[in-house]
Amino acid sequence: MKANKFFQVAIDGPVAAGKGTAAKQVAQELGYLYVDTGAMYRAACLLFLEAGLEINPENQDQLVAALEQADFDLHNVTDEAGNFYTRVRLDGRDITTRIREQDVDLNVSKTAALPRIREKLVAKQQKLAQTHHVVMEGRDIGSKVLPEATLKVFLTASLEVRARRRHEQLAKSNPQLTLEEVTRQIQERDYNDSHRATDPLTVAQDAVVFDTSGMTIPETVADLLRLVRERIAQVN
Ligand code: CDP
Repeated sequence: MKANKFFQVAIDGPVAAGKGTAAKQVAQELGYLYVDTGAMYRAACLLFLEAGLEINPENQDQLVAALEQADFDLHNVTDEAGNFYTRVRLDGRDITTRIREQDVDLNVSKTAALPRIREKLVAKQQKLAQTHHVVMEGRDIGSKVLPEATLKVFLTASLEVRARRRHEQLAKSNPQLTLEEVTRQIQERDYNDSHRATDPLTVAQDAVVFDTSGMTIPETVADLLRLVRERIAQVN
């Protein structure tokens, strides 16, 4: 007997492994709720930066209070061009693209290392999975947030491939950012995410590891869908 009647697909992996793109398409195909947990940490980070709050463990009382007072809203929408994405709002303001900017990139792993901030956001994520079938992506979904997930996937790719993908994404808004700088930032964030004390990025014991370096997005999505469907057939 399954403990939870909702299916849970957990997708974890390092920076720019292609989790978001693949997870969104898998969720759409299955009709599940897509949950971008990284967007939650990014929104919290932006809130703290804009409020001028020190992001460090000693300041967690103030940070938790700010988080509790803020009104965050994550909503999946499809725009007029047919693009499906998670719209993130903070106190009514659309911060969807703002949370992808450099200051957030450079401070988000520090935010995500704070145990009391994680506790709050993990509880939010677990609540969503109690009431929806979900495809949830992040760093600790299989290991912490959804330890009983129907399928756990660890999506990765070589550093070179990930840096190239992220550099291409950022080039439009930040043309002076070099590939070398993006590579360095990715390495640093991966190091921080994997070495923090609370819920670090790890490959969950029962995760299927996918290296997408030589794979296209449609190939990755097709493989993931096949795996999910196999798993669902087994547990039904
Ligand atoms: O898209 P990208 O790979 O740049 O990262 P993201 O998924 O937007 O996550 C941003 C940051 O949030 C990560 O580098 C982690 O520091 C943190 N994060 C986390 O700690 N736990 C999660 N479940 C998701 C994100």
